[in-house]
Parts: sequence; C-alpha cells; structure tokens
Amino acid sequence: MGKENIQSPFKTDTLTQKVALVTGGSSGIGLEIARQLGLHGAIVYITGRRKEVLDVACTDLQACGITACGLQGDVREQASCDRWLSEVESKHSKLDVLVNCAAGNFLVTAEELSQNGFRTVMEIDTVGTFTMCKSAFSLLKQSSSPCIINISATLQYGATWYQVHASAAKAAVDSITRTLALEWGQFGIRVNGVAPGPIEGTAGMTKLGPGDSKDLIVSSIPMGRMGKKWDIGMACVFLSSSAASFISGDTLVVDGANWMWKPPV
Ligand code: HXC
Repeated sequence: MGKENIQSPFKTDTLTQKVALVTGGSSGIGLEIARQLGLHGAIVYITGRRKEVLDVACTDLQACGITACGLQGDVREQASCDRWLSEVESKHSKLDVLVNCAAGNFLVTAEELSQNGFRTVMEIDTVGTFTMCKSAFSLLKQSSSPCIINISATLQYGATWYQVHASAAKAAVDSITRTLALEWGQFGIRVNGVAPGPIEGTAGMTKLGPGDSKDLIVSSIPMGRMGKKWDIGMACVFLSSSAASFISGDTLVVDGANWMWKPPV
C-alpha cells in the first residue's frame, strides 16, 4: 500500500517533519505503528534484535513510500539504546515521537516460572521502556512537540491466568507513563500509553490466545470484533498529533471494551 492509497481519517501530513522511533518495530503491532506514523508523514526508525527481520520490515515500509531506517539491538542493553539515539541525533538532532513497543511474553503458571523468566519479561517490557525514555530524554527536549507512547496491555487491570510476569511488567509500564508525564511535562514532553486488547494476526494472539477459538474471543468483545493492528496504529497517530496536545499521563485502552466484559446475568 502506497501513500496514495492511504485509508485514514487523518490528513496525510499530520506528522510531517516529525522523527519517530519505534522499539520492537520490525514486526506485528510495532511495525504497523511505524507504518501508520510514516504514512502520516513521519520519518521512522524501527528497532529489533534480528537484522534480517529488520531489513525485511524496512523494505516493506519503504515500499509504502515511507522514509524508514532499521536499528539493530536489544532494549535490555543500555549500549543499544544509546547507540540508536546517537544515530537519530546525528541525522536529525531531535526526536519527536518515541514508541516503546518491544515486549516479551509467554504463558506459564507462577509455579512453573523461574526467577530468570520473570526477570526477562520485566527487563524487556519495563526496564527497556525506562531505559529508552531516559536515553531519548535529551533528544526529545530538542523537539517542539515531543511525545512518548508506551505500549501496554489490559491483562494487569484485574488478574490474568499464567501472566504474573507480563502483568507485573505492564503495570509498571503504566506507572512509568504517569510518573514521566508528571516529571517531564515541564519540558513539554507528553507521555501516554496505548493498551491493546485482542488484536488479530499478532504474536500475542498466537502465543497467548485460545488457539483457533476466534469466536470465543469475539463473544467477549462488546464491539463484536477482534482488533486490527491498524486500530493501534491510529491510536498512536492521534496521540502523536497536535490533536492530543493536552493529553498526557493517560493510557488509552483500544480493546472494543473487552477488558471489562462480564457474562450477562
Ligand atoms: C516458561 C520460559 C518460557 C516459557 C522462556 N522462558 N520461555 N519459561 N515458559 N514458554 C524462560 C526461560 O526458561 C529462561 O529462564 C528465561 O525465560 C529467558 O528465556 P530465553 O529464551 O533465554 O530468553 P530470550 O531468548 O531473551 O527470549 C525472550 C522471551 C521470548 C520473552 C522468552 O519469548 C521473546 O523474545 N519474545 C519476543 C517476542 C514476543 O514474545 N512478543 C510477544 C509479545 S506479546 P531460565 O530460568 O530457564 O534461565 C505481548 C502481548 C501482551 O506482549 C498482551 C497480551 C494480551
């Protein structure tokens, strides 16, 4: 899909001249976020661990007419994060939009989960998010309208079976979102989250969903459908745009009202 075929309620120049960096941007929801930011005018940098996957993703984005660049490394490593930001600084001297989307997850009972398994997910989701925010801080301050978007989840709102690690990690991410919004508002930096619900065609659904039971999932979504990666991309375009200039410290739930679903009495 090229820019001429864009299907969006937003103007295609909504994010023109903005520089965006999406961690975990080489596949899944992260790639779609990068695509939508790019289709709305942003220059996009995507990060990922595997170079071959990054290269395919960049080619895909460039085929859409987007200026895209891949940055290889791991959010768990401070040196990777610093190197990525140095690369952006050398080309643009600013960063307008940071999207923290890199995440790790698997289903496991608390009884079976090792300390290292718990720590691994905390390090990717929570420490990775903090490290990127911290590394990007000085470049974000060079932007006239900087923002951070932390990709969260809804599984931590109540409690979710087999997700003690990811629930703890995403609850902490939501806390980081609120605290940085408080501390960094004085620098004009808006900090928000997006919490996707069940999104079709993602690693989250393949790894964590109930197999082929799409009907079962849909029956617990008041809006009557699974989410699309596009839905998350649009939420990020909105939060990155000037339409959201007074929104900070919020996590926008994009789940068709799934998280609060209860069976009819
Ligand atoms: C139990 C497991 C496990 C599993 C790994 N571990 N997988 N424990 N069940 N299925 C344990 C390992 O035994 C090890 O602990 C520790 O975790 C680290 O595992 P590694 O394989 O060495 O880690 P690594 O290679 O760095 O891989 C990280 C990962 C992996 C998180 C384990 O799954 C990954 O990289 N995933 C990235 C992509 C991904 O999953 N994205 C999905 C995000 S979905 P020990 O003790 O043995 O050393 C998402 C949606 C949330 O976030 C919302 C859902 C609704």
